[in-house]
Amino acid sequence: MKRISDYSAQMEKSIREINLPGGILDTLYQPISYALASGGKRLRPSLLLMAADCFGGKATEAFSAAAGIEVFHNFTLLHDDVMDNSDTRRGRQSVYAKWGVNAAILSGDTMLTLATQLMTEVDDSLLRAVLDTFNSMAIRVYEGQRLDMDFETSDNVTLEDYIRMIMDKTGSLIGAACKIGALIGGASEKDADKMFEYGMMLGVAFQIQDDWLDVFGDSTTFGKPIGGDINNNKKSYLMLRGAAIGGPEAEALSDAMKLPAGDTKVKVVTRLYEKMNLSAICRQEISSYSAKALTALKATSLSDDDKEAFRAVVEKLTGRKK
Ligand code: IPE
Ligand code: IPE
Ligand code: MG
Ligand code: MG
Ligand code: MG
Repeated sequence: MKRISDYSAQMEKSIREINLPGGILDTLYQPISYALASGGKRLRPSLLLMAADCFGGKATEAFSAAAGIEVFHNFTLLHDDVMDNSDTRRGRQSVYAKWGVNAAILSGDTMLTLATQLMTEVDDSLLRAVLDTFNSMAIRVYEGQRLDMDFETSDNVTLEDYIRMIMDKTGSLIGAACKIGALIGGASEKDADKMFEYGMMLGVAFQIQDDWLDVFGDSTTFGKPIGGDINNNKKSYLMLRGAAIGGPEAEALSDAMKLPAGDTKVKVVTRLYEKMNLSAICRQEISSYSAKALTALKATSLSDDDKEAFRAVVEKLTGRKK
């Protein structure tokens, strides 16, 4: 039986083997090594490897693309921490906090190109399909990140807008990882598209869980400070769903959002989320998107055993604490 954790272990090793120049350009490359060596779940490259394997490809053919997906993911995090003013990532200083905004921008840019170079190492016969998928995904991530920022200062964001935004910023990358893996494994177009949908829906569930953890997680386990979304006035799933409930609590929530950033604001908002029973509501929504991921998975031609391996990923992630 294939297990995602086996692929993450392999990935950890191959990420560490990426060779970066040093010397006079340590200022450019050190933040990259730091970000890549700081762990993380390695979810996206592991999905890519598992998809390649399940559709019949050799793991060796998928390693570069998997590394490319992880480098791209880490690039988005370097820039995201600047945008979200986040000092902590994976339990240590973010690149932005440690080296400043210029390092986060330029080392991030370098990672984006490095990621593209790694993607182009796929077999020539797959190059166009893989790069097309990769580039469309990248544009969607930027679009989603832009919407995420715009929503901070907008008062008329709907839950529908939110889902579109997280499909772009988070779902598209997880979907593309699954699709690229499938393509490398030799999947049919239909199977590759279904794997994209599986990853997309898994990504939506994953981001709602991330929003929940940002309020109710344990900062040591989660590796990120709690309350960042509240202090940034993010239109998170909890914020929008709470507002949609209406009544006195929603009104109190709207008032609380006007408080200056700080511990009091986080406490007051968290208390209201608890009163509104938002943890249970998040759970339901996560289940509903997980079910959509499983429907897409069922529609592929994968064997029952391989479907089970991808189903287990959904289950593992919906209960995650980090
Ligand atoms: C963080 O992704 C960004 C989001 C989409 C929420 P992960 O939670 O996968 O981060 P790492 O790589 O495991 O640290
Ligand atoms: C991040 O969303 C999505 C991308 C980096 C594209 P968040 O801003 O919620 O991610 P975290 O919580 O900082 O990891
Ligand atoms: Mg963000
Ligand atoms: Mg962030
Ligand atoms: Mg978050």
